[in-house]
Amino acid sequence: MTVAELLVELAGAMPAREGLPDPRAEARWLLAQALGRAGVWLIANPEHDVAPDVEGRARSWAARRAAGEPMHYVVGTCPFWGREFHVSPAVLIPRPETELVVQLALALDLPARPLVADVGTGSGCLAVTLALELPGARVAASEISLEALVVARYNVARHAAAVTVVQGDLAHHLRGGYDLVAANLPYVPDEVVASLAPEVRDHEPRIALVGGPDGATLIRAFLKDLPRLLRPGAYALLEVGAGHTHALAAEVAAAGLAEVERMRDVAGTERVLVLQRP
Ligand SMILES: C[S@@+](CC[C@H](N)C(=O)[O-])C[C@H]1O[C@@H](n2cnc3c(N)ncnc32)[C@H](O)[C@@H]1O
Repeated sequence: MTVAELLVELAGAMPAREGLPDPRAEARWLLAQALGRAGVWLIANPEHDVAPDVEGRARSWAARRAAGEPMHYVVGTCPFWGREFHVSPAVLIPRPETELVVQLALALDLPARPLVADVGTGSGCLAVTLALELPGARVAASEISLEALVVARYNVARHAAAVTVVQGDLAHHLRGGYDLVAANLPYVPDEVVASLAPEVRDHEPRIALVGGPDGATLIRAFLKDLPRLLRPGAYALLEVGAGHTHALAAEVAAAGLAEVERMRDVAGTERVLVLQRP
């Protein structure tokens, strides 16, 4: 079967719906992934004969997409800050807004060879990226889910990053003395979970999403421990949910931390809190 013929078949197998608005674009993306080519290559090579094993893989991926599975779980990989990360249903699919944390980290005045911690590492996307982008950085990554830990360790090895991944609740098992602490902990309020898009609600791990009555339960608990983790002058970058920057202001002050900045995401929501230990 040619690329052009297979694209028509795959698009036809994935009726448009919420979360899959453009079957032709999805078909092109899935086939490009199955072939290990860029999408533009398909456009330039419509008459190329697709090998039967690739055809089979693309068909099975299209069937999974049609059944509602998120595209990054289907192909098992997701880009973050220009690198590919293995993902499975054990981990949150890395989100573009989390790249704000990297952007902010790179703009901070950090010492050479900084000591960094990433709490709630999931796929390890933040820990690995910080380890590779901050010169000489050594990163400790913590995660409560054993299944997620396996994925994070795979990504650390895949990118040969200076990251140690440990299992534990928040940062209780980390010693402290960090120059930078990053955390993207679950922050969706309990009652909002039911109204999330089905692809998120029914497929991504609850433990990566649900953050208690107002979404900030874990972040609050983490804030109490944060001063211990930071050396004087060190920074923390916390990804938070809508309204949390305001809701957490008193706790930030009570922890003796200074708020340096609130970074908005592309939707205009205050998404990352930049804190500093005086
Ligand atoms: C929102 S996801 C973020 C994952 C990843 N850092 C990212 O940005 O894509 C939150 C992660 O925190 C982990 N987590 C939840 N509760 C935790 C806890 N008490 N201690 C440590 N990690 C926790 C979840 O398993 C999940 O991997």
